[in-house]
Amino acid sequence: MRLRWGFGCLRSTSPFENARQIDTVEPDFSMKRTHHCNELRASDAGRAVILTGWVHSRRDLGGVLFIDLRDREGRTQTVFDPSDLPTALFDVASKLHAESVIEIEGKVRVRPEGTRNAKILSGEVEVQVQSMTVLNPSAILPFQVDDPEVANKVNEELRLQYRYLDLRRPEMMRNLRLRSKVAIATRSYMDDQGFLEIETPTLFKSTPEGAREFLVPNRREPGTFYALPQSPQQFKQILMVSGVERYFQLARCYRDEDLRADRQPEFTQVDIEMSFIEREDIYALIEGLLKRVWKTALNMDIPTPFKRISFEEALNRWGIDKPDTRFGMELVDFTEDFRGSKFGVFGNCVAGGGVVKAMNAKGLAGATQGQIETMTEYAKSFGAKGLAFIKVENGEWKSPIVKFFNEAEKAALTEKLGIEQGDLILFAADQWLNACEILGKIRLYCAEVLKTQGKLVVDPTRFDFLWVIEFPLLGFDREMNRWYSSHHPFTAPVAEDIPFLKTDPKKVRGQHYDIVVNGVELGGGSIRIHQADVQKTIFEELLQIPPEETQSRFGYMLEAFKYGAPPHGGIALGFDRLCAILCGTTSIRDVIAFPKTAKGTCMMTSSPSAVTSRQLRDLHIEVKAAKKEV
Ligand code: AMO
Ligand code: AMP
Repeated sequence: MRLRWGFGCLRSTSPFENARQIDTVEPDFSMKRTHHCNELRASDAGRAVILTGWVHSRRDLGGVLFIDLRDREGRTQTVFDPSDLPTALFDVASKLHAESVIEIEGKVRVRPEGTRNAKILSGEVEVQVQSMTVLNPSAILPFQVDDPEVANKVNEELRLQYRYLDLRRPEMMRNLRLRSKVAIATRSYMDDQGFLEIETPTLFKSTPEGAREFLVPNRREPGTFYALPQSPQQFKQILMVSGVERYFQLARCYRDEDLRADRQPEFTQVDIEMSFIEREDIYALIEGLLKRVWKTALNMDIPTPFKRISFEEALNRWGIDKPDTRFGMELVDFTEDFRGSKFGVFGNCVAGGGVVKAMNAKGLAGATQGQIETMTEYAKSFGAKGLAFIKVENGEWKSPIVKFFNEAEKAALTEKLGIEQGDLILFAADQWLNACEILGKIRLYCAEVLKTQGKLVVDPTRFDFLWVIEFPLLGFDREMNRWYSSHHPFTAPVAEDIPFLKTDPKKVRGQHYDIVVNGVELGGGSIRIHQADVQKTIFEELLQIPPEETQSRFGYMLEAFKYGAPPHGGIALGFDRLCAILCGTTSIRDVIAFPKTAKGTCMMTSSPSAVTSRQLRDLHIEVKAAKKEV
């Protein structure tokens, strides 16, 4: 007879714990096991138990076999003593490959003094095995699941090819569990606030702008395509016209863009839209949501309201619109100090309407010539014309440019940058936005170097949240010689700037906001245009979209806005980025069960893959083979 104890085991640790049990009958998830591998304690000594799971590791000590058994919840040491077991069973156990699936029955006993393992929850005890069933043996592994250094040692592509093994690693399982908890906490918070969760189509219409789209050919009408949505932006606005008032969705979005650690071709947004609101309402809603999420995931109380910083201030002080404010090295303006300077690079730049900005990379004076050159090349890759520097070492300012500076210029630098021994001062002289952005990139680069040298330590439990507001509504594309929307074309201008729309568009600020944490753009949104005529002006007069194209791409929205569109606004948070921050990882691949590589490939399934000529024929598609390299 099977012994069954502790069926409550799942209740204390599983994500089901938050599910509201309307039905009083609790399902029995335990199958045959009596406990999960994280549960047994010294107080269970003497109990007969059944455990199921994977062979995490196996050690043979003086003829006695120790197998660490692992399941989703944790690990328990099991002991196979040949003097207690049939020889055949012992032989099978001693040949088991790691990751084989087994079920054992045995008795709990307290481990002898000195052999306890404080690193695992069940480390006080072990289970003396009385019988074992091999539920499924494992083949030899492509990499060791029990090695805590796998992520550093094994090529990520191999881990992605065998993602099911990679996900068995406790660290990855913890990430999946945390993601699930955050999704549930988000839904519960949004429900509490009166939001409806509504799914919108993922077979959408092509609306080329922003990132490149993924197209889906339409078999029924040759030459027509659906597009996978980059976000549910248009549907959520239409839902406001439909009178939904409060919508949210954990929405899957698709963007065919260059991939990086924080970008995937398909990703998830916490997508939100509300009617009859102003920017303040969104700030309060999101601050409440993040408070709930941080409490649920990390048991941390985050202080609200968050700081608000204008786009201009963010660029001026940190050189980026998503500043990491956990460390200093802020940019300082020296435009007036170098007006008329003998150092031509600076003097001429100011005379030409540009600015001179500098930053103090504290403690980096020891940078080698090679490192300075690398930094200069890096700055040049972002359009810098050069990267002037001063090393402050042995009581001297070492730099090819100091000889051009007068005493007043030197005094201004010393004072405003708080120059001390060991500092490295870096300069950018350029048009305002370029100078800020170049030094902003260099600031982050220097921070990484200082971190590796142990000179900059960032507290991993610190979260600097802030809102970046007052973005310009439009940017100017010199190549195309036209304006483009900084966020998207549905963003409303700040009311007092509307008169400049026709006279001086660059002056117009958008009612756009980004939420930033520790230098990561977590989300962005805006108050929208809800009047058909204003929206049409933006499309046709500012963005210069020809009227027929406006009609074919956005006609249905303009039409909908004629029939009582309420004032509305919203936001979308990058859910993968949110989870990555909570898990303390910099790559969103670590919090996505089956992510793609930087080339957009799924290593496990080998997609994208070729299709048959018959499928292509059905879709009326002809593929031009790539030209062979000669
Ligand atoms: P936006 O384009 O700023 O706004 O996207 C919102 C957030 O989505 C996340 N994100 C991504 N995450 C992973 N991989 C990607 N490729 C990727 N692209 C974006 C980011 C980003 O801040 N419809 C608007 C929102 C609105 O106005 O309400 C939108 O999509 O965290
Ligand atoms: P040059 O006079 O071009 O030899 O430049 C002298 C120093 O100033 C070099 O260290 C350059 O890297 C740097 N420099 C040149 N142009 C700029 C610029 N626009 N901003 C900052 N530094 C610059």
